This record gives sequence, C-alpha cells and structure tokens, in this order.
Amino acid sequence: MPVTIRRATIDDIICMQNANLHNLPENYMLKYYMYHVLSWPEASFVATTTDVNEPGLEDLTLEDGAGKQIKLNSNYVAPGEKLVGYVLTKMNDDPDQQNEAPNGHITSLSVMRTYRRMGIAEKLMRQALFALREVYQADYVSLHVRQSNRAALHLYRDTLEFEVLTVEKSYYQDGEDAYAMKKVLKLDELHPKNFAHPKSSTERPEDDLESDLLEDVAV
Ligand SMILES: CC(C)(COP(=O)(O)OP(=O)(O)OC[C@H]1O[C@@H](n2cnc3c(N)ncnc32)[C@H](O)[C@@H]1OP(=O)(O)O)[C@@H](O)C(=O)NCCC(=O)NCCS
Repeated sequence: MPVTIRRATIDDIICMQNANLHNLPENYMLKYYMYHVLSWPEASFVATTTDVNEPGLEDLTLEDGAGKQIKLNSNYVAPGEKLVGYVLTKMNDDPDQQNEAPNGHITSLSVMRTYRRMGIAEKLMRQALFALREVYQADYVSLHVRQSNRAALHLYRDTLEFEVLTVEKSYYQDGEDAYAMKKVLKLDELHPKNFAHPKSSTERPEDDLESDLLEDVAV
C-alpha cells in the first residue's frame, strides 16, 4: 500500500489532531495546529495512504442545516485518503529570543501504530528539516523528547543525528525529564537528492539523464 508524504494543509489539521490524540499524551487545541500551518505553510507534512476498506463519501461527511459539510471520520482527510502520520513544525517566534539565529522547532511527530517501522517518521522529518532550512532559513532545529521514548530517541539521535544538548528536569506534566535536542541544518546534506540512510553502505547508481528512455523498447 503506497504511502505519500506531502505538505500539510489546513484541511488536514483535524486528522493531525486525531492522530496526535491517539499517539501522544501531549495534545494541543485545534487553533495551535492552525497557527502552525497558516504561519509556516511549507514546514509541516503528513503521510497518507489509500485504504482498500475506504468509507464512501456518505460515511465521511454530513451536511448541516446550512449546507456545510461536517467531517465524521477523522482518520480520513478525503474519501479514500487516510492520514497515517504527521510532523508539525514551526519557526521559533519567541520574542525573548529575537537575537538568536533563525531556528525551527519540532512541535509534534507521530505515526499511527500499524504503520510504524516503515521509515515514515524518518521521511516526514527529513522533509520538514529540508523545508525549515530551505524555505525559512533555519540555522538549526530543536525538539524535546521523553527520556523513556526509545523509538523517538533512536530516530532523532541515531538516524537523524540530532545531538543531546541537556536534560530538562520534569519537563513533562507527569514529571518525566526530557532530552533537549538540536540539529544544525546544512542545506546540502538535507537536500532530498542526498537522502542517505546512515546504515546504507551500498553506492546507488547515478541517475542517467542522457540516454534515450525508449532505446530498449522493442519496436
Ligand atoms: C517515534 C515514532 C514517530 C517513529 O515512527 P516510525 O515511522 O515507526 O519510525 P521509522 O520507521 O521512520 O524509524 C526510524 C528509526 O527509528 C527506529 N525505531 C522505530 N521504532 C522503534 C522502536 N520501537 N524501538 C527502537 N527503534 C525504533 C527504526 O528502526 C529506525 O531506525 P534505523 O534508522 O536505525 O533503521 C513512532 O513510534 C510514534 O509515532 N510513536 C508515538 C509518538 C511519539 O513518540 N512521537 C515522538 C514524540 S517526541
């Protein structure tokens, strides 16, 4: 089943909030998603797939008295298009840190349980890091992660090569400590054409843009 990574739009935020509620104890009001997507429209991404058990349009929306469509199934951004992951990011707009170099922040990332360990979070993150650097000129990006969150820690520290800056004591509401992490963003490294998994040692062949695509086709 193919998974598409694309930029998040305002039409996705109900589903993003739904995924967040399923996957994480840190939740936000809908207007906070809206704030991200409207303020930095190129920085947040969603992963979607088509569903063979796709509900029909009538299962998804209901018309209210004023002719407005009300969304009923918050797993689907559109008929047949199911949201399976998202990354919500922003630029740091803290007025107290105006003298800092421009920098981005990963507010939230999650992938629905049955779609995990397929590389979706890594792809969402790489797209977001590239956009924060290329579009919003972020010099670096920061995030917090629970000390007990082995999956996320592996993704950030080992796969994406974030560094641990410090431990923030009782950062989370339940008292758990957080690792504050940071990654300096270098455009060359982040460019999608240079996506290279740290574990992949095999050289991939160069794209051949010269030869005629039809030359091997029998006539
Ligand atoms: C953390 C999370 C986003 C990872 O999503 P994912 O799509 O499964 O991650 P990926 O498949 O892209 O995996 C990326 C790397 O993390 C590793 N990883 C993923 N889940 C793991 C786990 N449970 N334990 C150990 N490593 C794990 C993968 O093996 C991969 O490592 P590799 O690069 O060495 O192969 C997902 O588990 C999730 O949504 N968790 C709940 C919400 C959450 O914790 N969000 C982060 C808040 S800071």
